[in-house]
Amino acid sequence: MAFASFKEVLLDGLKNGYAVGQFNMNNLEFTQAIVEAANEEKSPVILGCSEGAIKYMGIDYTVAMARVAAETAKVPVILHLDHGPSFEYVVKCVRAGFSSIMIDASHYALEQNIELTKRVVDLCHPLGIEVEGELGRIGGTEDDLTVDERDATLALPEEAKRLVEESGIDALAPAIGSAHGVYVGKPELAFGRLQEIRDLLPNTPMVLHGGSGIPDEDIRKAISLGVSKINVNTENQIALTNTIREIFAKDAKVYDPRKYLGPGKAAIKEVVKEKMRLFGSSGRA
Ligand code: G3H
Ligand code: ZN
Repeated sequence: MAFASFKEVLLDGLKNGYAVGQFNMNNLEFTQAIVEAANEEKSPVILGCSEGAIKYMGIDYTVAMARVAAETAKVPVILHLDHGPSFEYVVKCVRAGFSSIMIDASHYALEQNIELTKRVVDLCHPLGIEVEGELGRIGGTEDDLTVDERDATLALPEEAKRLVEESGIDALAPAIGSAHGVYVGKPELAFGRLQEIRDLLPNTPMVLHGGSGIPDEDIRKAISLGVSKINVNTENQIALTNTIREIFAKDAKVYDPRKYLGPGKAAIKEVVKEKMRLFGSSGRA
């Protein structure tokens, strides 16, 4: 199959109360593990790729791997730029063959965020490429913020409405207290804020970043409030790395990469399959 439509897949999730996972590809093993899991779970899937991962793999290798994965898959597969940093970088990814785009202009003031995001939408939509935008600050190194500091980073409902309506994006990633990487303490998602945004934008699929380490009940609640895309990377990275560490601890003489990357890949696949069941996307393709 050719790459699937980002919007179609997300709207089906929104309509039917499930979320599609975006799992980040960091190399060949990730790509294979994610798409094999999707095939076995009969789930649509989004291969996410950040600027850093593209730099690591090379943009042509990235697109080629994702294309082979999509063409051989029996389920919808999307290749999505994750946290696109600039208009120029988006152009590069569109030219290379990405099938959907995230532009992350969340560090700008609202007017500039809308302006840059709309510029990306105006480039992408005529090409049939759909766009995700971001509002507020999703934590990362800042996940030990105090409550007041954290509240100041959350997306504001009125601003969310303006960003969606004035830029024309197809999906919105509002900051609701999640963070990238390993959480310090229990993640506290701002469900009230998510509900307020949802009330203003009932037809817009919402995206939850920093999906690793969020308790299952919070994931289900987020989905019930309109989240139809959930991004996961760190849990897969940990699964791979822990597996390799265990193999090295048991056998210091191992040198064939297939002997540790193979089991590492299988560990990623298990995490992805579990997430697909949790997100409710299993059996939807
Ligand atoms: O954009 C990527 C994600 O938000 C992944 O977050 O590494 O915390 O799972 P995570
Ligand atoms: Zn993210």
